[in-house]
Amino acid sequence: MTAATATKQALLQRLDGLHQIPTIPAVLAPLLRYLQQPVEQLDVQKVTDLLSQDKSLAAQCLQMANSPLFGRAQNVQSLRGAVVSLGFHHVSDIAMSCGVLNMLPSDKASLDPVVFWEHSLGCALVSRQIARKINFGDPGKAYLAGLLHDLGIIVNLWVLPKEFRAAWEMGKGEGIPLHEAEQKSMGFTHCDSGRLLGERWALAPELIEVISYHHAPEKSAEHTGLVALVQLADLLCRMSGLNYGYVEERQVNLAEESGFGLLAQHSTALKDFDWARLTFELDSYMDEVHSLVRAIYRT
Ligand SMILES: [Fe+2]
Ligand SMILES: [Fe+2]
Repeated sequence: MTAATATKQALLQRLDGLHQIPTIPAVLAPLLRYLQQPVEQLDVQKVTDLLSQDKSLAAQCLQMANSPLFGRAQNVQSLRGAVVSLGFHHVSDIAMSCGVLNMLPSDKASLDPVVFWEHSLGCALVSRQIARKINFGDPGKAYLAGLLHDLGIIVNLWVLPKEFRAAWEMGKGEGIPLHEAEQKSMGFTHCDSGRLLGERWALAPELIEVISYHHAPEKSAEHTGLVALVQLADLLCRMSGLNYGYVEERQVNLAEESGFGLLAQHSTALKDFDWARLTFELDSYMDEVHSLVRAIYRT
């Protein structure tokens, strides 16, 4: 058995008996289920009551609701105010984001989880923005796919922190993409470990495809457009200050990425897409994402 196969087996075994990965906070499941109903059947007070059951989640949501990233122009003082002014869909995006944040291990022995959270939030925002601009389906779904695409990194941080740190150090040292470094040093990537957790949690099939194939969208079979969109958003973030804590030494031309051609098959608007403008907008997200994540971590 090679070292890589042994590590992969160790991962599978640890995942199998794994209880230390926290699940999405208990309050989120009923909230997200409730928010799936048609909007005219939703009740502001009910959503506020559900969110209020988890005080720290409620406080984080309020902080996010006041960020310009979610379109706030004025100060929202109460949860009810946030639900009214942001709308149900944004509330669900925000609640999910805070839920994912709370799943990261708090000790920084392996790596600073803030970096990964900033990358995930950045990728969620960029995915939503691309989806809006090219009229690609539901921007909320793109947001969620961007937020969860690197779920496997959370798994690696919990399950194999030392091995994952070594992979990250290799990626940083050689300036190569993290998934390539993981493959070289551990024999599997966060796409493999994320898929295992996604299946265990019975996430929606399109989310599992994004988690599994966002570094190789040509391998996805059913939801290629969404997978390709997240690949491009992920690359944009990695080439900017919303990366994994190091800069990859390579030039990226988005139009030459496999995801670009695949996404173009799903959206004719892509060929006229103004990437320069999106990159410019990304610069303005960046400071906001950094300060928002740091503020939430202090909550
Ligand atoms: Fe990834
Ligand atoms: Fe990523």
